[in-house]
Amino acid sequence: MSTAPTNNTGTTSPTAAAGGASPYGTLPPASAPATRKPVSLPRLQEMHARGEKITMLTAYDATFAATADAAGVECVLVGDSLGMVCQGLSSTVGVTLETMAYHVESVTRGIRRVQGTAWVIGDMPYGTFHESKEQAFRNAAVLMQAGAHMVKIEGGGWTNEIVRFLVERGIPVCAHLGLTPQTVHALGGYRVQGRGDEAAATLKRHALELQDAGASLLVLEMVPAALSADITTAMPRCATIGIGAGVDCAGQVLVLHDMLGMNLGKMAKFVHNFMADAGSVRGAMEAYVQAVKESRFPVNAQHAW
Ligand code: KIV
Repeated sequence: MSTAPTNNTGTTSPTAAAGGASPYGTLPPASAPATRKPVSLPRLQEMHARGEKITMLTAYDATFAATADAAGVECVLVGDSLGMVCQGLSSTVGVTLETMAYHVESVTRGIRRVQGTAWVIGDMPYGTFHESKEQAFRNAAVLMQAGAHMVKIEGGGWTNEIVRFLVERGIPVCAHLGLTPQTVHALGGYRVQGRGDEAAATLKRHALELQDAGASLLVLEMVPAALSADITTAMPRCATIGIGAGVDCAGQVLVLHDMLGMNLGKMAKFVHNFMADAGSVRGAMEAYVQAVKESRFPVNAQHAW
């Protein structure tokens, strides 16, 4: 029986096991599914084609990223939600490219140190891709050089040209439609998007155009479940990743702090606190992965519109 101490991520601490306890925390050991191949774009596309749900969680630092990897999460999103959960901002609008690059570096370093296999997505913050496709490429390159495998870009219609430009130059893109937090002021708040025939048709058209432009993933945030299901079925070459968009998306994403029950405000309807029944952070992440894989989360009647 192992006598090695465990840490509060639910893993055995390698440093402590080796007798040299670090006062600053250590990373968990390599990916739990040790046989998991590195998550690559072709693997994500295979999963999508097979109908296997894709799991994504946000992470902003080395320890949580390595723990998510060890728990079997396929995609780690370094989201600009870090503006709220790490920096204490009231929206994502104030997040800078430099801050994003710092967190992408921390996350990728953490995953690499444990020989992790997760796919890392760096969020392009507000103002870093809005001027031109050249500006977008220059700034996306900063996140790729910080270690990201893919960048995420909010918005539809006007972003098609940018997505195509990046993809043609070897940068995989995750698009983001529905509630796009960077434009919260224009949208008038954190509201469900795509309600009504006209709004639904526009959202679906934007999704199909982004697929044509080469986006491989598409986050759908706060979109009615029936519309997300329709878009998902219509997009064989671009996997939808839902957050408040129903169970029929090709995958799901949640903000780490929300799913760990650390949202100190009002919890959004689409969040489930996976920590409540778990003994550790890693346990909560594993429960999330399992629930998404088995289509037990989200529950449309409870978490969607
Ligand atoms: O910034 C972020 O974390 C996101 C997710 C909510 C999808 O965009």
